[in-house]
Amino acid sequence: MSDVPSPRRAPRVLRDWLPGTPREAADAVVGNLLLHALPAHATKAALSYRASGWLGTACAVLFGITGVTGTILLVLYVPSVERAYASVKDLETVVPFGSWLRGTHRAAAHLMVVAVVLHLVRVFLTGAYKREGPPGAARPLNWLVGLALLLLTLGLSFTGYLLPWDQLAYWAVQVGTRIAASVPLVGDATREALLGGSVIGQPTLARFYALHCFILPSLTMGLIFWHLWRIRKDGGLAVSDRVAADAVARARAQPPPAGRTYAILGATKGGTVASVAPSALLAPESVASVPNAPRRAAAVALVCLALTCVFGLAAAAPLEQAADPSRTPNPAKAPWYFLWLQELVSDLTFKVGGFVVDGTLLGGIVVPGLLVGLLAAWPWLDRSPREAAGVWFHPARKVQNRVFLAGLLVIALLTVVGTFCRGPYWGFVWPWDPVPTTPTRL
Ligand code: HEM
Repeated sequence: MSDVPSPRRAPRVLRDWLPGTPREAADAVVGNLLLHALPAHATKAALSYRASGWLGTACAVLFGITGVTGTILLVLYVPSVERAYASVKDLETVVPFGSWLRGTHRAAAHLMVVAVVLHLVRVFLTGAYKREGPPGAARPLNWLVGLALLLLTLGLSFTGYLLPWDQLAYWAVQVGTRIAASVPLVGDATREALLGGSVIGQPTLARFYALHCFILPSLTMGLIFWHLWRIRKDGGLAVSDRVAADAVARARAQPPPAGRTYAILGATKGGTVASVAPSALLAPESVASVPNAPRRAAAVALVCLALTCVFGLAAAAPLEQAADPSRTPNPAKAPWYFLWLQELVSDLTFKVGGFVVDGTLLGGIVVPGLLVGLLAAWPWLDRSPREAAGVWFHPARKVQNRVFLAGLLVIALLTVVGTFCRGPYWGFVWPWDPVPTTPTRL
């Protein structure tokens, strides 16, 4: 008798065996809590690294790493204006592995921002947001869920910025919330709601703490589950639709199989009736999800874990002097992923005669708002044919891909200039020139 346990046992969270038959592979998916999210079979194309880079999975893994490391940090961190800085300093200097833990949490958060953006870029360049798949498929809706996840990811990173309560944190939040205040009519109220008053203080820390540790992670987790569930409802990845369409086209091009000939009610001489199930057409292109998908996911998870550990060691999380509202660092910079906005605000601020045009509203709110709106509407603006979904750089989407990449390039350039080429009073300095010494505005 084989020592392989029966796949019909009660569902388990972890399995320690590999399926021997296709039936066992399918049963493993159905009977396992974690694997239940998978279909029994997946196309080889959808499982390949080439189709998606598995970047969405990387986003989920990195979110998981921030969750685990963040939960440990939560135990050691004190969310009070008097104690916050000291508790982070303790982590850096006294708590065993505290500095590494902080570095790893920060590395995972930054890598998650990078992974989410790269994932969005891949989905756009493959036109994978287009409506296709089985009846009820709604990939444009999942694109919107994804956009919400991007905003949540940025919100998570930004709210975490204030928690160490050092100069970097305090002034980055000043910059961010001043941009929010520039919105006509509701700006000041929004800033006050975020700060819990007119200045950054204990109510601000309490708000950012609640947002960063509970509200935004819960929302993100909920949306990730919805996002993944939608992928199943949409018939898997868009690349599988292409594989299925190609298989159908090949089957149609085949001569009809020799078989029985039926006369319909005796009124016709008859014709060959041949029907083939879609799953049979896709069979040569598919493999069992188990063990192929979990293996790939595990490899992606290990790479993410290794990267965060290495970055966490190589680039320790910064901790400047304790927050001091009376000493403004010059320049006060936003986190790197918002530096393109800060750069835009500065570039759009100019003098006309004696009148100063303030770029805060235009650069900080209008332009990013329009960009997010445009991205949200894109699946409905994209008029390329169905065949363009799930294909890298499809010729029918050449123009839109070029416009998208040009936009990305501008954002990347603004980020580089904001990061490396800005000195006191946001003046331009080449990265290799010494930074002029006007360190602090009092
Ligand atoms: C926390 C952030 C996110 C997580 C955890 C996540 C997770 C995933 C996963 C696991 C997949 C399966 C394919 C893959 O691994 O690449 C996927 C596909 C998809 N994601 Fe995301 N995603 C996130 C953000 C986004 C964003 C920002 C967008 C776009 C605005 C987006 C839109 C989509 C779409 C449309 C698909 C289906 C792609 C296809 O059919 O090929 N996702 N996502």
